Parts: sequence; structure tokens; C-alpha cells
Amino acid sequence: MPSRMDGPLKVTGRARYGVDHNFPGMVYGYLVLSTIAHGEIAAMDVTGAKSAPGVLGIYSPFDPLPLRTPNNTMLGETWVPLQNKEVTYYGQPIGFVVAETFEQARDAAMLIQVSYHARPALTSMEEGLATAEDAPPAMDGSPPSLSVLASGVESIEDALAASPVVVEGTYSTASQNHAAMEPHSAVAVWESGLLTVYSGNQGSDLQALELSAALDEDLASVHAVNPFVGGAFGGKGRTSVPAFLAAAAARALGRPVKAALSREQVFTATANRPATVQKIALGADTDGSLIAIRHDSWSSTPMDRSFVEPTSHGTSREWYSTQNVAISQKMVPLNIPPTTFMRAPGEAPGSFALESAIDELAVALNMDPIELRQRNNSAAPPGKDLQWSSKHLDECFRIGAARFGWAERTPEGRTDGDWLVGLGTATAMFPALRFPATVEITLRDDDTAVVATSGADPGTGLLTVLSLLGAESLDISPDKVTPRLGDSSYPAGGMSGGSTATASAGTAIMIAAPKVIDDLVKLATSPGAPFEGVDASYADGRVLAGGRSMTFGEVLRAMGRESISTTGSSAPGEELTKHSFSSFGAQFCEVRVHRLTREVRVSRMLGVFDAGRIINAKAARSQIIGGMIWGVSAALHEGLEIEASGRFANGDLAGYLVPVNADIQEVDVHFVEYPDTLHNSVGARGLGEIGTVGMAAAVANAVHNATGVRVRHIPITIEDLLD
Ligand code: MOS
Repeated sequence: MPSRMDGPLKVTGRARYGVDHNFPGMVYGYLVLSTIAHGEIAAMDVTGAKSAPGVLGIYSPFDPLPLRTPNNTMLGETWVPLQNKEVTYYGQPIGFVVAETFEQARDAAMLIQVSYHARPALTSMEEGLATAEDAPPAMDGSPPSLSVLASGVESIEDALAASPVVVEGTYSTASQNHAAMEPHSAVAVWESGLLTVYSGNQGSDLQALELSAALDEDLASVHAVNPFVGGAFGGKGRTSVPAFLAAAAARALGRPVKAALSREQVFTATANRPATVQKIALGADTDGSLIAIRHDSWSSTPMDRSFVEPTSHGTSREWYSTQNVAISQKMVPLNIPPTTFMRAPGEAPGSFALESAIDELAVALNMDPIELRQRNNSAAPPGKDLQWSSKHLDECFRIGAARFGWAERTPEGRTDGDWLVGLGTATAMFPALRFPATVEITLRDDDTAVVATSGADPGTGLLTVLSLLGAESLDISPDKVTPRLGDSSYPAGGMSGGSTATASAGTAIMIAAPKVIDDLVKLATSPGAPFEGVDASYADGRVLAGGRSMTFGEVLRAMGRESISTTGSSAPGEELTKHSFSSFGAQFCEVRVHRLTREVRVSRMLGVFDAGRIINAKAARSQIIGGMIWGVSAALHEGLEIEASGRFANGDLAGYLVPVNADIQEVDVHFVEYPDTLHNSVGARGLGEIGTVGMAAAVANAVHNATGVRVRHIPITIEDLLD
């Protein structure tokens, strides 16, 4: 199995992340954050800070760095700091101090006295539900509420009333922080009118676009670099506040500026996964066939209403075969930090609700939960006549059940000494998407090739995938291919997000490679060339004709050429009119709940996935393991606690729980590999995000199996399981 090309650099500390870049004369910026959740900044007394040692600049709404609101074509507008005195959440960036050293900047920032005209703040999801609003249209343009009803059925309520078996429940999920290992940070350098920003981000070309718009500079004079990214998970899709401020301050001061958030600042000065409340009703026949699904969702959102977690749209709309489905999405504007995409936005918290409800229906029907899911397996999303391009979910459940020992499960669980042991399962789905991407392939006279696209490898393994797919499409060995990523000067690779990068960049490689091979053969057969006038072909890195062959490097050298390059671009297209596309999976989980302490341990997990062709088995497995652990984390650990003041009670890695090695025991992953060439020529569908989908429900369902207690919120705590 190929290893990660960047692995040795990362584990030996030699990988240089954005903040690891240093320049002569570099100075340091430190952010000041608000300490109220709603109001207006009345005054900022900076006298003490100004005279503190080493201070070079103090920026605030009273003395701002000019920044415009950029509109990133993919994600919409990105908020920029310091442009007005309004405070809409606790921990909002309201100031930036630049000094000769990091410590001087931080110390001076502590001396700034801020006074506010405070206004009442709404920070509680529970209270906010009363004033919820319809969410804006979903990403695909569909309205927040929609339904599909069988002919003759008037309403979803009628369909539920006509169902012999009905289960209903209200589920809720906590707000989560991405908690990437690398805090949001940037180093900005202006040189002869050219800005270079080194900052971990999910798409270097998008970051350059945002920075140029925010600074009102030509795109040509902005260069964004992110060769390594220490985790993103949706939380680095947009340009970060430190990147905007470092770039603007570097321009104002004429010095390179480094700015990094502290871990505590990451919790509020970036963006989080929203909290959700979801009401689900399922109606079924006595044989388990679903008759009706109703799924109403509420998502927290900041006061600018910039992001809503699409839980029902991401799950109930498409997951099961049913005649009647009605979904709605509402948002609850609160005085909370920005919300944004986080791994499987919609599907992750949505599947906790839907897959818990399906488990409840199985209990009500006294039916095996896998059998219930298989009975309602769909060939196409409800109300659509576009069939899934390639779906082997049944096989995932069959293989998973056999490997996990599902046959030994009883509806009451079992005991092992003082431990109550339960098994749970859940479906996982994540849409198979592609974004536009352009890749440049260069053949070099030393018989190596370069595959370059701006994009980013946020830790997913895209760098290695570029070399593997480049090698395959050029018919040479991967060690001859140098992948280049994370630099806005390469052709636009778009965003590493939505589990799309392999399919997007891979398809562009499949288009670029034949073109460059074609150009090479034309060159080799051109007048004066080694194969002049012959009908030559290409294989195995060589041009061949009439029993003679030369490597592409030999051809280039013979022609006095250093290299030959071409680009290939791909974008989603006609396939969308022919099929529906999704990755699929079956999640399994065993929990042990202590009879007396009610502590929950996850002792075994297995995920079996259908994600098309697997390009790099090791990286794919790692992605899925990480996602499954994240699902356990959502189920049992993570949750931002917001005080009435709007302050996060646990806004650091001491109070915000994530699992450690001791929390995770056996994790097993298996792929059924059916290349999906209806989706793209590589045959690979996304697998970055699906690993987390369904896992929280599998844990909750296992807890129910072990204890008989149904917990309809996550994280599940000991208190939830006390008698
Ligand atoms: Mo992302 S939410 O990791 O595309």
C-alpha cells in the first residue's frame, strides 16, 4: 500500500506550515476579542498599550485596517474584522496589536480597556427556537421546506395517520469546534507590490481571491501558499481573520507580519458546527415498509445568518425508499460565533436523528434494525427518477454483519460481569460531488513528471493521490511523479472540501494526461524529430514506433526541450442529468456501559463502505478511521457549552472534550470496491466525510441495546444513563 508522501516530513517535524515561515524584520500580531455577546463598542482606551514596549500598531474599529467584504465564488461572503463597532458575539475579533515580538503584542493587547453599550443577547438555542426563521435555500437551491407525497395523499400528517406503526422523537446535537491541530494563522509578506500569504487553508486559489478582494488589490499581486495544512475539516474553507489582518497590517507597516490565534481564540474567532434540534416522525407498515418520513430541523446560526446546518436535507430527503416525505429547515439566529461547514455538514448531525429514529422504529416493530434498513433500501431518492449510479449498501450491511458478529445480538443486549454490552448500527450516506478543477501536467527531460494544482491537502492525502493518478494516467511509476499543491500560482484546483478532491483533481488529470501525451507524440514525429513522419504511439513512459522506442525524457532531450506541459480541466456536467450519486456505508458499534458508574466505553467499531474505486487504500482507511472516531467523539465527548453571557464555558482543549487513545479500542474498516465510472472517469467517489456519518447514532443505538435507555441528544453523558 502506498504511504503518504508527506508522512515522513510531518512526523519528523520538517513540514513547514504557514506559521513556520519567518522573514527578516518580521513582526507579530495579536488579536483582541470582545467580552460581551451583543452591543456596540463605546470606546477603546489604548493609551497603555501604545506606550508598551515594542508596539508598532494598534488597530480597532476606531482606527481600522481597511478591509472589504470579499465574495468567494464558492462560499459566498466572508466576514472581515474591525470595520464597525457592532458586537454580535462573545469572542469577536475587535482589535489587533502588532509589536516586535509575540509576547510584546500579547502583553500590550491585555492593556487595552474596552467599554461597551451592551444590549440583551440571545445565546440559548432553547430560547431561540421561539423566534426561528425559515432557512435560506439549500446549497443546491432547493427551498427550506419541501415534500413528496403519493398521489391522493393530502399531507404528511395524513400519511402518518394512515400508518399502522408510528414513532416520533425530538433529537438534538451540540455545537462543535473543528479543533484542528494547527490553529488558524498566517504570515504575510509584501515585496515589490506583491503580497505572499502563508496560511493553512482548504484552497489556495480561493484564498488569493478573497485576500485580493478584501485588500482591493489585483489578483495578480496576491499569492497564497499553504503547502501543509494541519487539519481543516471545513473550518478553513474561508480565509481566516489572522490572514486578513496580517496581510493588511503588513501593507500598513511595511514589515512582514505573523499572526496566530491562541487555542482559546480558535473557539470563537473562527467558526463552529451549529447546534441542531430535529423532530422526526416515521410511519411504517407492520412489515417495516416506510410509508412516511417527516423531518423538521432547526439549526443555530450567527446573527448574520451566514450558515445553516442542513440536517433534514442531508438525510431524510434521500436516504430511504418511501412514498411520502416532508422536510423543513429552520434557523435560530443567536449571538454566537460564526457557524460553518464541519465534516459532513447536515449528514453528520442529521444522521444522528434519522438513524436513531430508524432504530426506534425497529424496536417498535420488534424487527432487526438491519433488516428494517434493507427493506427500505432505495434505488433512487424519493420523488426523483434518477437512479443511484452504483449502490451496494446491502452488501455493506451483509459483510458488516458477518464480520461484526451481528447474529449474536439480542434485543436486550447482554452482560459481561459489571458491564452491560450492546450493539448498534446505522446507515451512512454522503453525496458524491465534484467541483471544477484544473491540473497542469509537465513532462520533464529527466523522465519525471509534475502534476500541479493550486488546491490544498488539508491532511487528507491528496498530494499522494495526485502522484498515484498522475503515474497511472502517464503509465509511469509514482516515484517519477512530483505532485505540487497548495500554491495559488498553480492552475485553479478549487477547494478541498465536500469530499470531492480525488474525483475533481483526478478527473482533470485524466483529461490532461492524454493531451500531454498527444503533444509529446506530435513533437516526437514532427520534422527533424526522432520519429519524423512515423505513426508513433505511447506506452510505459515511452514513444514507440516500428520496434524502436525512446523515453519521453529522451525525446525531449533530443529536441532540446526541457519540458512539455499542458492543462486539463473538469467540472460536473452531463452525468448529473442521468443518475443520482452518493457514497454509502454501514456502521457498527459495540458499547459497554458500567452497571454502576454508567460510564460508556466503545469497545469495537466497524465501518463497511461503498465509495467506488479506492485510489490509496492506506489513506482511505485512515480517513475513515478518523471519521468514525469523530462520530464517537460527537456521541460521547464533544459539545460547546454556551453560558447566558455568550461566553463558551469550555472554549479550550481542557474543557472541550475530544477522545484520546484510551477512549478508542478496536476500529475496523472495509471497502466494497465497485468503480463508479458513471460519476467520473477515475471511478472514485468521495470518502473523506462519510466516515463520521451515522456513527453517533450507532453509538446511541448500542447504548439503548445495552441499557434500554434511549438518549435523544448528543453528547451522551453519564447523567443521561443514571436511573
Ligand atoms: Mo469539509 S465540511 O471538510 O468539506
